[in-house]
Amino acid sequence: MNEIQQLDQKTYFQTYKRLPITLSHGKGSRIWDTEGKEYIDMLAGIAVNSLGHAHPALVHAVKNQVEKLIHVSNFYTTVPQVRLAEKLTRLSGLDRVFLCSSGLEAIEGAFKTARKHANSKGKNGPIISLEGCFHGRSIAGIASGKEQYQQGFEPMPGGFLQIPLNSKEAIDEHVNDQTTAVIVEPIQGEGGIRLVDPDFLRYVREKCTKHGTTLIFDEIQTGIGRTGAMFASELVGVKPDMVTIAKGLGGGVPVGAILATEELAMTLKPGDHGTTFGGNSLASAAALSVLQTIERDDLCRKAGEKGKVFLKELNDKLSGHPLVKDIRGMGLMVGVELTIEGASVMQKMAEYGVLVNVASVHVIRFVPPLIVSTEDLSTAVDVLKSVLDEHNTDSA
Ligand SMILES: Cc1ncc(COP(=O)(O)O)c(C=O)c1O
Repeated sequence: MNEIQQLDQKTYFQTYKRLPITLSHGKGSRIWDTEGKEYIDMLAGIAVNSLGHAHPALVHAVKNQVEKLIHVSNFYTTVPQVRLAEKLTRLSGLDRVFLCSSGLEAIEGAFKTARKHANSKGKNGPIISLEGCFHGRSIAGIASGKEQYQQGFEPMPGGFLQIPLNSKEAIDEHVNDQTTAVIVEPIQGEGGIRLVDPDFLRYVREKCTKHGTTLIFDEIQTGIGRTGAMFASELVGVKPDMVTIAKGLGGGVPVGAILATEELAMTLKPGDHGTTFGGNSLASAAALSVLQTIERDDLCRKAGEKGKVFLKELNDKLSGHPLVKDIRGMGLMVGVELTIEGASVMQKMAEYGVLVNVASVHVIRFVPPLIVSTEDLSTAVDVLKSVLDEHNTDSA
């Protein structure tokens, strides 16, 4: 353990199981630690560094904005904030935007918006989420999420109900004229890269429309090009009423957003909701440059294509491996489900120079920068295969 890691253990909240790696700088999809060791970054800060590290467009936008204006109160408009909002409405087809600083905050604001809207229609039924979901670590986020994350933080607030994934029967049973909202991740990220059935999503859309229930897509992980489209909702052909985004939007600069229909957005009146940092000039300029670069360089389409090549190579080299249960994903959001726990595999891969993480205990998660090269994707497959082969030999 180096000096920084020792200091971390003494001073930081011990809420993360960290690897003994202290990172120093990055370029593209490569990152280096303080010892000078180079890694392929297949995690991208958990689907955050969409343009990789030190992308010239993002560096330029941030430097330029820092010299002009970092932050003002939301009592005033700024050019980057409003330009970003306008761009997000155009990209999403939704009418209005509320900018914030993280995924958790986007979820919290979306829940408040859905509740105020439901209350105004005389409804007080639950916000329904799907088993295996993850909507962040606020109290409302964990109340809608896995029981495991609720433990020790009781009592949970009321007004949340979790139903089985992909079950039309459960939707029939629980979505009615009183239901406030249904919240869905088109692909569950923390839940282990689990794809939600598009047919189920279309069914949920129909039911929500019928009952005047708000349909929220949590695209905090799937959004901003990750799955091969700007929003995963485009790929499943479902238009939600509200979308939450964060992660890849700022390319590493903390920024999130709620996107909503006119009707939903306008139920919040002055004073109903707010944030000090949300959509400040620096974060907005960063997010604008990320979106411009994604559009200019056609990164959504390229992420979709690279994802197909990556999945094929994973399948060619690993399907049928005794330690591999399933390989799945969309675009550059890919999971390899193992028959063993993933922690030791993740650790060994880091030793061999590839950074990944584990979602839902058994799934090795790959969410690299959108600009990752096919060579780096290929190396990551080979490293995973070597680690699994070694593990298999050791335990034989
Ligand atoms: C789908 C989804 N929703 C919400 C969140 C919470 O975002 P944040 O960690 O920025 O609060 C995450 C984070 O992993 C996520 O993947």
